[in-house]
Amino acid sequence: MNKDSIKIFCPATIANISCGFDVLGLALSAIGDEMVIKKVRNPGLSITKISGLDLPKEIHKNVAGVAGLAFMEASEYKGGFEIEIYKKIKAGSGIGSSAASAAGAVWGMNYLLDSPFSQHQLVQFAMAGEKLASGVAHADNVAPAIYGGFTLVRSTEPLDVIPIHVPKELYASIIHPHIEIKTSDSRKILKTSISLADGIKQWGNVGALVAGLYQEDYGLISRSLVDHIVEPIRSILIPGFDEVKHEALGAGALGCGISGSGPSIFALSKGLKTAQKVTQAMSKVFENMDLSYDPYVSKINTKGIQIMTL
Ligand code: HSE
Repeated sequence: MNKDSIKIFCPATIANISCGFDVLGLALSAIGDEMVIKKVRNPGLSITKISGLDLPKEIHKNVAGVAGLAFMEASEYKGGFEIEIYKKIKAGSGIGSSAASAAGAVWGMNYLLDSPFSQHQLVQFAMAGEKLASGVAHADNVAPAIYGGFTLVRSTEPLDVIPIHVPKELYASIIHPHIEIKTSDSRKILKTSISLADGIKQWGNVGALVAGLYQEDYGLISRSLVDHIVEPIRSILIPGFDEVKHEALGAGALGCGISGSGPSIFALSKGLKTAQKVTQAMSKVFENMDLSYDPYVSKINTKGIQIMTL
């Protein structure tokens, strides 16, 4: 195997998962970017190619560059790296576009150096990219991209990531309406404090969702996929949100909410057939509104970033 160059799949991710703002996330199989990382003799980091999106190649302005620099500062490696980024996840779509690039860069570099860093450390490096993208070093997209499956970020300072069991029959539907919402903008509209009553409801749901995932109790998962805090505010930014959610639940989804900071809307279902039906029902709303969109049905990606053949 040529260990000087690697091509990888960097999954899209759903952050928050209704009740777990900034702490819960999951990785998807059906959508993701591709990246090629090369080890080169000349020291330093460069982004040699970006396709699919108009993004800066300057290292300090690119999330993969910034995350890669954090990696290189901590590494004893004396050579350099070149990065090619093939974006399939649109920017401002709410399914972890920046996280895929940041996580992919550090994961690939680590692999080419024979893995000197742990997954935990890679998440820390990738968070530098998220800070550049949204102003906040949140880890709820980069953690599932790197660990795979569901993750819970108990704390970012110090970082504490807990991988969570993935029930076998769980599938995700994602509808990405073609409007762009910047994470930084959709964070600005949130309140900085919440009522004790809302807090009680919210942490009851987070705890129960984690228990439901471990017990593969789909009823409990369904009852817990509720967001009393962020969704009521952010959903105003997404045309047709209430109707899409209504249709998803009507078609049998366990729950439905905003994917990350939106505008993508996700639903979780038990079984592929139900997930397909749910995706169709959600799509219909945007069709009736004449709003273009991309629909996806995906397994939960338990592996995270994966090697592809070059
Ligand atoms: N937790 C972050 C937010 C995720 O909702 O702002 C952004 O993808």
